[in-house]
Amino acid sequence: METNKQKLMDINTEIILDLVPNNIIWCDNHITKADRVKQLSQNPCILWFTGLSGSGKSTIANTVESKLYKMGAKTYLLDGDNIRHGLNKDLGFSEKDRTENIRRISEVAKLFVDSGSIVLVAFISPFQRDRELARNLVKEDEFIEIFIDASLEICEQRDPKGLYKKVKERKIKDFTGIDSPYEVPINSEIHLKTNELTIEQASEEVINYLKRFNYLKDLKE
Ligand code: ADX
Repeated sequence: METNKQKLMDINTEIILDLVPNNIIWCDNHITKADRVKQLSQNPCILWFTGLSGSGKSTIANTVESKLYKMGAKTYLLDGDNIRHGLNKDLGFSEKDRTENIRRISEVAKLFVDSGSIVLVAFISPFQRDRELARNLVKEDEFIEIFIDASLEICEQRDPKGLYKKVKERKIKDFTGIDSPYEVPINSEIHLKTNELTIEQASEEVINYLKRFNYLKDLKE
């Protein structure tokens, strides 16, 4: 029987087939993902950090990446603010643009998984539907959603970039959690309440998850 995931993949494939221009034919590379994985001491995956602005996504993702780097893992961190300076600098914060933002970065993350990397993605990614599309681009165990959970009040108090202040001054509109929605994850693999955990504890939870499910093979802290 076809699973929901298979159905979604079929729908995605249909959409992609619809959009792929004529005369462009997929070409298999000589070196495969399996070849690359054999050379590395890790199983590739996407660590997808989602949460409000100011919830701690970038801080925790950076700490996790530093720990993985010290262990000798091959990693890359894709951060929303940084990617919006380059690849996605043509996108704003309308629903349509956020969806395109996540679609593009999901495809980039999939390429990193194909390269054998552990890729950390730190984007607000406010819509469940977009996160599901990202999840369904890779194998089931290659997508680890991490909900960085901090209440709007806490994020407003922290306000690390002074953006909530600007929202109050009506200098920014369509701000997530204020006048643009954030859909709370319903099936995240890891749930981190950042007002109850230190950065160290939160990042250790991610590392422990990776160890427990053998993503880090023989790598040691
Ligand atoms: S997403 O919603 O499309 O996933 P993304 O993670 O790329 O957002 O970018 C969010 C970052 O852009 C925030 O951390 C914040 O620094 C900045 N930002 C600027 N304007 C907005 C806005 N209207 N809503 C949310 N974040 C904004």
